[in-house]
Amino acid sequence: MKRLYKVAELPFIMCGIVGYVGAGTAAPILVRGLKRLEYRGYDSAGVATIAENVLLVEKDAGKVDELNAKLSLDRMPGNIGIAHTRWATHGAPSKVNAHPHTDCTRTVAVVHNGVLENFLQLRKELIDLNHNIVSKTDTEVVPHLIEDFMKRGMGFEEAFVNTVRRLEGSYALAAICLREPDLIMVARKEAPLIIGVGDGFNMIASDMTALIEMTNQMVFLHDGDAAAVRANGYKVFRVADGQIVERPVKTVALTVEMAEKQGHPHFMLKEIFEQPNSLRDALRTQREYVDLLAELLDKGRVVFLLGAGTSYNACLAGSYLFSAVARIPSYPVIASEFVANYGGAVGADTVILAVSQSGETADVLNALDFARMRACTILGLTNTVGSTLTRVSRAYVLQNSGPEIGVAATKTFTSQVLVLAQIALRLSRLRGKISQFEMDEFGHELSKIPKLVEEVLLTAPAKVKELAETLVNSPFLLILGRGMSVSTAYEGRLKVMELSYIPCIAYPSGESKHGPISVIEEKIPVIFVAPPDEFRKQNISSIMEMKARGAKIIVFGDKEDEELRSLADHYIGLPKTHPLLSPIIYTVPFQLLAYYLAVLKGYDPDKPRNLAKSVTVL
Ligand code: M6R
Repeated sequence: MKRLYKVAELPFIMCGIVGYVGAGTAAPILVRGLKRLEYRGYDSAGVATIAENVLLVEKDAGKVDELNAKLSLDRMPGNIGIAHTRWATHGAPSKVNAHPHTDCTRTVAVVHNGVLENFLQLRKELIDLNHNIVSKTDTEVVPHLIEDFMKRGMGFEEAFVNTVRRLEGSYALAAICLREPDLIMVARKEAPLIIGVGDGFNMIASDMTALIEMTNQMVFLHDGDAAAVRANGYKVFRVADGQIVERPVKTVALTVEMAEKQGHPHFMLKEIFEQPNSLRDALRTQREYVDLLAELLDKGRVVFLLGAGTSYNACLAGSYLFSAVARIPSYPVIASEFVANYGGAVGADTVILAVSQSGETADVLNALDFARMRACTILGLTNTVGSTLTRVSRAYVLQNSGPEIGVAATKTFTSQVLVLAQIALRLSRLRGKISQFEMDEFGHELSKIPKLVEEVLLTAPAKVKELAETLVNSPFLLILGRGMSVSTAYEGRLKVMELSYIPCIAYPSGESKHGPISVIEEKIPVIFVAPPDEFRKQNISSIMEMKARGAKIIVFGDKEDEELRSLADHYIGLPKTHPLLSPIIYTVPFQLLAYYLAVLKGYDPDKPRNLAKSVTVL
């Protein structure tokens, strides 16, 4: 199937927005659009329309159908409206935090998908100007800024554009205003936004699934674009200088299901390809919360990093990062083993950073219940606002990965590691244990990660698919890594095993001579995770050991390392990064390998057998 987007422009959607202006009544169309967006599993929703010179807003926490039954969303009057389904990033799911957000005078309504990085600063400015900000969201600053520009004499369009120029972060924004009741203003940066062109109406949406029922004529806005959309036409222009730009109208021939997966055959592949953008959003983790976590971790005499499955593998990477970057020893621990292994030894001087995508994993919560009774300090890293983990944590950070529908964790793993690396860097700055130069260099390498993952996704998939074809009938797979790459090897094992059902073992390569090497015989595949780090020589020795016993050697290594390449039967060349960040880059080919193996074997990579996305039983 043809993919709809190139990697670099792949849309990344956390919330869903939809808007309509035309001859018909907007609300029923908007509510059907919201229903189409709900496949992402949203937590609250709302609609704003304009009718008889009144701005009407209905919103609350809950699913679209429940809210529709309660608030009669689809019976709201008016020929123009915007609507939103929310996946919370700032502020728990609640009525006040649900979109649309309005200004003090209830003249402007705004919906937003993305993360605004400078909202705290904007919020402070607006409060100083006596604006009444009622929610905990980043979005609410937008209608108040528009209001402020309009107070200074600007029209709605000019005020909207000036507001957008003040925003930092990612956004797909749509706004309506009582003063221009036939105009929807939109803008996008690093979040998708599409105009749906109709006969006698026009629509906007973050996702073509919300448009397909009404039109297959779509205009895909680019980063930095804004548009003024009316019933009988639209204009697209650049936010920076107001210059009008032409964007072609494309005919989209897709079913809703195909559109949900953005042209990919499975959610898992879509989520793998979303990683450059989910990593960009992981870098937008709120600085003050990262600082707070670092301060609390610094106070602990004993630090545990606790998680299950993939999140445990991220903890393992985190413990290497905490040691190397912040000089803090920490124990990575599998949640279900915590009480038995360490329960007798924890107390008020213990800090536990629990990592859980869902924030609802029973093994994690059970361990935390125990730890709370022993007065430990609980911290959280999660993808789910409002989850139990956020409630039991003294402080938490959000990884901003957006919903992950594939049961196998992909984009959430790489983002967890990236957030843990940011925490390690903050800890390091607090403790001053490594030089300023090293800290700055590490910070610089962190910022390059999304681009490097983009490169992997442009160059590796075809080669990994070829590799999968050679491994599809393997009875067994051994994965080896050293140092930081042990976490990559473990995560690679989990991905390949849970999706292809091929038994896999993963070991620190130094351990292979203590046992695992006995399984090696002619043609047994061994994957070496061998980034260009301090272990290169030892990696070569381990490869030679396995080669001497007839193993089939597969190496994930640096794209420029010709010597390593010459030793391998299969070589996947990857871009250079800081050795401590290599799990983020080197896990991607494992995700692809697991995916292709599952597909080749005829299994559903989105729903591996016997597994659930969130394991809420002990
Ligand atoms: O939601 P959590 O991060 O706490 O989930 C933990 C594990 O259940 C999860 O990572 C699981 O191992 C996935 N199937 C891995 O792909």
